[in-house]
Amino acid sequence: MSDQNVFPVDPAFAANAHIDNAKYEAMYEQSINDPEAFWGEQGKRIDWIKPYTRVKNTSFDPHNVSIKWYEDGTLNVSANCLDRHLATRGDQVAIIWEGDNPEEDEKITYRDLHERVCRFANALKAQGIQKGDVVTLYLPMIPEAAVAMLACTRIGAIHSIVFGGFSPEALASRIIGAKSKLVVTSNYSLRGGKQVPLKANVDAAIDDHGASACIERVIVVQRTTKDVAWHENRDVWCHEVCAAASADCPPEEMNAEDPLFILYTSGSTGQPKGLQHTTGGYLVYASMTHEYIFDYHEGDVYWCTADVGWVTGHSYIVYGPLANGATTLMFEGVPSYPDNSRFGRVIEKHKVNQFYTAPTAIRALMQQGEDVLGDSDLSSLKLLGSVGEPINPEAWTWYHRIFGKGKCPIVDTWWQTETGGIMIVPLPGATPTKPGSATRPFFGVQPALVDSEGNEIVGAGDGNLVITDSWPGQSRSIFGDHERFVQTYFSTFKGSYTTGDGARRDEDGYYWITGRVDDVINVSGHRMGTAEVESALVAHPAVAEAAVVGYPHDLKGQGIYVYVTLKAGYEQSDDLMKELRNWVRSEIGPIASPDLIQFSPGMPKTRSGKIMRRILRKIAEDDFSALGDTSTLADPSVVDDLIEHRLNRK
Ligand code: WTA
Repeated sequence: MSDQNVFPVDPAFAANAHIDNAKYEAMYEQSINDPEAFWGEQGKRIDWIKPYTRVKNTSFDPHNVSIKWYEDGTLNVSANCLDRHLATRGDQVAIIWEGDNPEEDEKITYRDLHERVCRFANALKAQGIQKGDVVTLYLPMIPEAAVAMLACTRIGAIHSIVFGGFSPEALASRIIGAKSKLVVTSNYSLRGGKQVPLKANVDAAIDDHGASACIERVIVVQRTTKDVAWHENRDVWCHEVCAAASADCPPEEMNAEDPLFILYTSGSTGQPKGLQHTTGGYLVYASMTHEYIFDYHEGDVYWCTADVGWVTGHSYIVYGPLANGATTLMFEGVPSYPDNSRFGRVIEKHKVNQFYTAPTAIRALMQQGEDVLGDSDLSSLKLLGSVGEPINPEAWTWYHRIFGKGKCPIVDTWWQTETGGIMIVPLPGATPTKPGSATRPFFGVQPALVDSEGNEIVGAGDGNLVITDSWPGQSRSIFGDHERFVQTYFSTFKGSYTTGDGARRDEDGYYWITGRVDDVINVSGHRMGTAEVESALVAHPAVAEAAVVGYPHDLKGQGIYVYVTLKAGYEQSDDLMKELRNWVRSEIGPIASPDLIQFSPGMPKTRSGKIMRRILRKIAEDDFSALGDTSTLADPSVVDDLIEHRLNRK
């Protein structure tokens, strides 16, 4: 290996692992050279009602983008996650729920979960939901989130989960975009001891932001005893409709290519897009990646700290683990409540074996010092995972030392909402790791690097990361807008899926993700389109123009840097700055809250009026040595003013 800093695979770990290096090499080769045989075999890891005879039928040709896997097979996802386990593990715990309050927890067996899902599914039917309808879930991290997801899959409804941190306005646009008839929410959510009014947000989305155009029903989970406003002809209590429903609900037979869920995510332009995932290929891929990458074995307790509002929660809290008959932990709270040792306390309490979290959480804990986890007993841990953003080598080695006691392999998992499951990752029994590198492709994944003209870079080098052929977990389309799907992902580098990320490949063929190459920023592992924040800002009466860029932030990975030009008659002030920050929070949600707001009399523009973001990015990074040629700007003096008043000074 070319680098000094290599962590070899522990031979004892490899000896018990599902995949060692010899297996990885052999299986990877087959997955590329004979995908039909490889995926034909892997498809058998789940149960089919009618077995498939066709495995792969995919085209990345921009004139005809079409992605189908197992297309003539039929199955049901909830039957795969529940019914098929009942005979062998009905009494095994499926979900360990750990509440925000450390005194509150619940263990739900596969048998209990099956019953709760069947009742919920019948309750959905009783509220008029049919196969193909879209159900929006706006829920905290409570068991009902998993129950509602599986209940949708049981009857062939499509779920669209909206993260509970999004504002009423953002929720409404996702409800309307998906033409959803029903929302499932809770009266409040609990985070860090505070109650967040989810139901009131749903009411505002419906009554003030246009979601009344499609919403007919709201199912409300009673999370806390606090009262909420009630609409007799719209709202029903979850516990009441479930108690009234039968516990017998046969699973609907679904085609492999029927939609399973929609998940909205940010892109570089326009409003968030609803990525659509389908039933068969997604489940095969989620289940396989979960088993091999986390080296999940019978009896292990597995914990992914993500929220079900993001794709990580879909694939690696619910679908992958439950398809594998695993015990999956679901955590309602935050890492800093009641104090910063919470992650350690939960690992100790439930004897967690695999722990999967985000670099932003690791960095926040790291800042608190070496003894942040107190005297928590972490000896149950066998493996650690990281997801959502590049993990800097310092955070990697700290995670390895403090959580892993130097003995747990770390899987740095690169993937996206669009990919459905993990794509580039070390397999813990096979791949020596280098801190900061996501290392090698998973089975069936063919990454390539291309320059801006689309020429492939061979050997070591830097470029745009593309994937040259399909894998079963891939998103099939954007809900209601297939043309946008084709344009966004398949038109830039013809014949390949464009990831939007940049990457470097080293001499050993390892991939190092360098971050987004488009106008998407990654704030604490949350994807944000700069265009979304800009359009929120220009909706404020004082704002004439706004430009948003990312800048390096010690804790969040990237922070949000906003340049604002005010309309005539408005004066810059600290109060206005506060007001704009709150404005963005209420338009999108707290995760979009600007870190820095610089008032600027003008924007650097080309003579044709285009904002030169490259210059704004450099100034936000406090690196104006490399501004490049500014002489083509309409008014080059704008740049001097921006530099003089810059807010991020190293
Ligand atoms: C980034 C989250 C570096 C990347 C699963 C990608 C990462 C975007 C990693 C997708 C990683 C995710 N190393 N960067 N291990 N994992 N990313 O859709 O920029 O919320 O394009 O999916 O996160 O974010 P999304």
